[in-house]
Amino acid sequence: MSSNRRNFLTALGATGAVSALAASKAMAQSSSQAAPAEAIFATPSAESRALTGKVAIVTGARANLGRAFAQAFARQGADVVVHYHRAETIGEAEETARLVREQGVRAALVQGDLGQAANVKKMFDVAFNEFGQADILVNNAGAIVKKAIADVTDEDLEAMININTRGSFLCTREAARRLSDNGRIINIATSLLAGAAPNYAAYAGSKAIMEEITRMGAKELGGRGITVNAVAPGPVDTPFFHSMETPQTAEFAAGLAVAGRLGVVSDIVPIVEFLALPSAQWITGQTIWINGGYLTR
Ligand SMILES: NC(=O)c1ccc[n+]([C@@H]2O[C@H](COP(=O)([O-])OP(=O)(O)OC[C@H]3O[C@@H](n4cnc5c(N)ncnc54)[C@H](OP(=O)(O)O)[C@@H]3O)[C@@H](O)[C@H]2O)c1
Repeated sequence: MSSNRRNFLTALGATGAVSALAASKAMAQSSSQAAPAEAIFATPSAESRALTGKVAIVTGARANLGRAFAQAFARQGADVVVHYHRAETIGEAEETARLVREQGVRAALVQGDLGQAANVKKMFDVAFNEFGQADILVNNAGAIVKKAIADVTDEDLEAMININTRGSFLCTREAARRLSDNGRIINIATSLLAGAAPNYAAYAGSKAIMEEITRMGAKELGGRGITVNAVAPGPVDTPFFHSMETPQTAEFAAGLAVAGRLGVVSDIVPIVEFLALPSAQWITGQTIWINGGYLTR
């Protein structure tokens, strides 16, 4: 065993993580492989503007989670394609673009129903026409319904399948065709995929494809350095969640997290931001449950 490694293990056993970190750093400094060891302990904030020169596409980014992801990528130096769905929400989408540009990077807007392949192609065309490439895709767009299986209408089912299933697949297919090497696909799924909440079968069922796209996509695209991961939030305090809940059911959902509160947008952003960074290269094919500990899998 090398003296470096012995020092590292001694520190781990004797004095815990802090000493282990110090030992690891010392080991890195005296090793010819200093960069990887340092990278292990790097945090997103340590990688200032690590996405400079990259282009991110965020679907459903007029507000809420999508807007926050767009802002996070902009803070890291990426240009951002801000996708929005309904034409009448252009004002909100423009505000997202303004917040992106505030970070000194470029933003482009694109509108459309992503359940239609032509709109998905158009979204990537905007990335290429405006910025010359696409490096990061966040499949954030989604729709929700909370009804007992017996009450789900044909229209409800079609709406869920349109964006949560077909839209997510079409966006991932376009990304598989056009994303740069070392790119990133991040699927915003739901913690309901690890739980079993009544009345969410149509929503969670239509989102279930995201885990499969993640696992298969990681295998298919890994050879090009592209990582594919799913982030699966628990209840997040946005109108999307509240539109399906009463104050009483929202309070019940809040009580499921160990801190007894709903998630907020800023709880979800850091992991999505991190997964886009170069230092997240070794994380792929995973679903990351982020729900304040209300369930794990
Ligand atoms: N909030 C939560 O509790 C929670 C928990 C777990 C997962 N999530 C997921 O997080 C994502 C963002 O949710 P959010 O809370 O930030 O709500 P949100 O702002 O309403 O995000 C959903 C976005 O998807 C867009 N969209 C809906 N149908 C579309 C379609 N056919 N084509 C293209 N875009 C479409 C919506 O646009 P329009 O409004 O114009 O239709 C909206 O911008 C969703 O995928 C959701 O499933 C949310």
